Amino acid sequence: MKQICVVGVGYVGLVTAACFADLGNRVIALDVNEKRIENLNNGIMPIYEPGLEELVQRNRRANRLCFTTSYSDALNETEFAFIAVATPSGINGEADMQYVAAAAQTIAETMTAPLIIINKSTVPVGTGDWMADIVKRYQKKTIPFAVVSCPEFLREGTAISDFMQPYRTVLGSFDHEAAEKVAQLHLSLRAPIVITDLRTAEMIKYASNAFLATKISFINEIADICEALGADVKEVAIGMGYDKRIGPAMLDAGLGWGGSCFPKDVKALAFMAEEKGLDPKILNTVTHTNYDRRRKVVRNVKKMLGGLEGKTIGLLGLAFKPNTDDMREAPSIDIAQELIAEGATVRAYDPVALENAHNLLPAIETTTDPYTLARDCDALMVLTEWNEFKNIDLERVRDAMKTPLIFDGRNIYDPAEMRALGFTYRGVGRGFDR
Ligand code: NAD
Ligand code: UGA
Repeated sequence: MKQICVVGVGYVGLVTAACFADLGNRVIALDVNEKRIENLNNGIMPIYEPGLEELVQRNRRANRLCFTTSYSDALNETEFAFIAVATPSGINGEADMQYVAAAAQTIAETMTAPLIIINKSTVPVGTGDWMADIVKRYQKKTIPFAVVSCPEFLREGTAISDFMQPYRTVLGSFDHEAAEKVAQLHLSLRAPIVITDLRTAEMIKYASNAFLATKISFINEIADICEALGADVKEVAIGMGYDKRIGPAMLDAGLGWGGSCFPKDVKALAFMAEEKGLDPKILNTVTHTNYDRRRKVVRNVKKMLGGLEGKTIGLLGLAFKPNTDDMREAPSIDIAQELIAEGATVRAYDPVALENAHNLLPAIETTTDPYTLARDCDALMVLTEWNEFKNIDLERVRDAMKTPLIFDGRNIYDPAEMRALGFTYRGVGRGFDR
């Protein structure tokens, strides 16, 4: 049994802590947010992530997982400290490193024994060296330590299975022995382990996210061309995906990518390139076209309704993707704001994100289910592909609406079936006569 400390109990930190505990380690998870720790100690989860609550409770009961706000408690007798604090976008697209800097400084000030500091946050290339300098600067006396980069690749909504069955584990360090020790913690996951230098490990994370975002922006551009030429992008993606060099993942055309990571990480990578005098044209275009989509869907709905002034639009789904309550950079935010700016009244239903959406979108009215949402709407827009929307009673929805018009931003319905039910239906990239 190893003793591990996880610093930052958010989407990544809490999953990391619970999963390492479930793998038989003793984990102390730490956060500066006192309310969050108090709630966790009372069994109240700070985020919605399928399966996480059960995993947390099981490991707390087994005394393998506990929560604290005290760095000295967390670091006591700990050999490994994982940092999983946020790295949001700064003003110019750069990663804001204040939370990582604060965590590294407090670890340095508090540690009393040799420590391997492992960075799980997504951080600019060069951060490992910068963190080592911070730790040296703030240590009260010289205590040996190593910095290891261990970027996280989990997705929200499937975070536990992504952690437990990763495609790979990437480790980077200037200290090979430390990297090997961290590799040992991951051996039971039975995934390939890539051990490299710090900067390369940090770059693998950015390059991976940027590539996935590029793949989505690419299929969205193909969707627009499909729409203009009368092809169906869903079938195009299936046909492309059988080619192993392409693969079927990340080829769902729709509203473009959002979330806490793709937007900030593509921008941060472009920022790093520009700082070195490079011109990252692909990255900048990938971001630009992604945000264009949000305006484009509003233009489409406006055209279909002959204007938005005085119209009531119902939004099915607000979270940036299904199975999460995360609203960070959700396309729904820009879309709702644009609809409101055009004079529409906006109502919404989401199974779990309504609370988080409230502060971001105070002007929208929220409802408790899709049928109440549909009542007297001029149009419904599917913004998140929650499973529960796939099998709703569409006749009931149609009868509740003022005009049965659906803009399906996630292509969850069959165009022919929708038209047979009497809807005016528009998906994304589904051809002009489908
Ligand atoms: P988050 O905002 O959900 O959680 C961060 C937590 O860190 C918060 O609870 C905050 O209170 C805490 N914190 C801030 N400063 C602290 C400090 N000095 N000491 C202790 N705790 C502190 O963030 P997240 O979504 O979990 O992302 C964390 C990192 O992981 C980011 O770099 C992100 O890019 C990366 N990442 C996120 C995901 C994801 O799906 N969310 C996936 C892979 C990688
Ligand atoms: C993404 C990556 O997939 C993870 O590997 C990575 O660890 C994480 O970012 C991170 O660094 O935070 P996540 O943002 O949770 O994970 O979710 P994804 O499933 O990748 O979706 C991201 C966005 O792309 C969502 O808005 C989703 O709706 C959109 N998307 C995804 C599409 O539009 N089409 C697709 O085919 C897939």
